[in-house]
Amino acid sequence: MPKQTLDTPEQLLHFQLRTALTMEHDSLAALGELGAAVKGAEIKKLFRHHADETREQIANLQRVFELLELRESTAPSPSTKGIGKQAASLLERSAPKLRDQAALASALGNEHYEISAYQALLVPVRAMGAVDAGRLLQANLEQEEHTSEEIRTTLQSIAG
Ligand SMILES: [Fe+2]
Repeated sequence: MPKQTLDTPEQLLHFQLRTALTMEHDSLAALGELGAAVKGAEIKKLFRHHADETREQIANLQRVFELLELRESTAPSPSTKGIGKQAASLLERSAPKLRDQAALASALGNEHYEISAYQALLVPVRAMGAVDAGRLLQANLEQEEHTSEEIRTTLQSIAG
């Protein structure tokens, strides 16, 4: 199938939202995999908590489609698939004693990617004056920022 050409800012935003939905599904899968790979109870809890938040983020995104009157669907997100692959490869290469550190380092990369996706979505949504959609995207962004900071401080506390 030929690739759709994005001709208008609305089409671009719609496509970005669709990739963001895939991004969150990929994040949910990655958090489950990372959570299973780590030993530390606190780190498992951190990943589990953010998986719960990620389910809310998916619901928020679904609501954003509705609010903007855009058809809800997903679009490919090779970036998050790649981050997941890189995490799997790093974990596979890491000795068991380094796995928590490797998992946290990988999760930090994922959060930063998500932060950039929400920052990029918020610009056109705010420009449209879509206040409610903007609030939901901002809520997701703040959860990613908060998680990224928690991951970073946990990484700092365990890194030798
Ligand atoms: Fe997320």
